[in-house]
Amino acid sequence: MTQAADPASLKRAAAAEALTFVESGMKLGLGTGSTAEAFLDLLGPKVAAGLKVVGTPTSKRTAERARELGIPIEDLDTLGELDLVIDGADEVDHDFSLIKGGGGALLREKIVAASSKQMLVIADSSKLVRKLGAFPLPIEVIPLGHGTTRGRIIRVSEALGYSGLAPRLRMKDGAIFVTDNGNYIYDCPYGVITDARKLAAALSPITGVVEHGLFVDLATTLVIAGAHGIGVTNRKYT
Ligand code: 5RP
Repeated sequence: MTQAADPASLKRAAAAEALTFVESGMKLGLGTGSTAEAFLDLLGPKVAAGLKVVGTPTSKRTAERARELGIPIEDLDTLGELDLVIDGADEVDHDFSLIKGGGGALLREKIVAASSKQMLVIADSSKLVRKLGAFPLPIEVIPLGHGTTRGRIIRVSEALGYSGLAPRLRMKDGAIFVTDNGNYIYDCPYGVITDARKLAAALSPITGVVEHGLFVDLATTLVIAGAHGIGVTNRKYT
């Protein structure tokens, strides 16, 4: 089957494929972003028609959209382990590693993904890359002393060979962008991330860093919609 090639149609096509993974009785993680919203838009009518699922949102925006669509939502702690999380990504590589956080929801997205048996990533084919890093890596930091945290991010990155990194404090409408968790984000233009696992491990313990947008060993299924159809790939983790 040939899909229309505009990104919005491809996102909808990936979202429609994701719906085939949803079964009655499932506890779902609901992602954030335009592709995840395309999924919610398709899930809403199914719920109205009798599909019994409950979701936990990864952002205030997703919670609001789920409520509008009549999709039942609950706190993650009430639901416990989830069956499936459906989320988009900013970049996806062939090792199932991701960059997420373009929409600023990386912390909740990662907590929800880590609490799920499966993570299904839905994306149009423009998100698929050979190496992560062209999309600036979002890093969520505590506001207190955020400039000093930025310095630590630079030094840790330099030690791994990423010289000249210039993290940019995310702004929105002329003010510092504040996440749903009250934190700031530095967007870090690495260019090419040579080893996502190594960089992820080095960024996590930095004082002041709350979370980074490298998702390694979390995605279990990729649903990628391109001009020539939809590719579904499963990964088995040992
Ligand atoms: C939000 C995210 C999104 O999944 C990512 O930005 C992709 O968004 P979109 O589906 O709009 O392209 O990580 O924090």
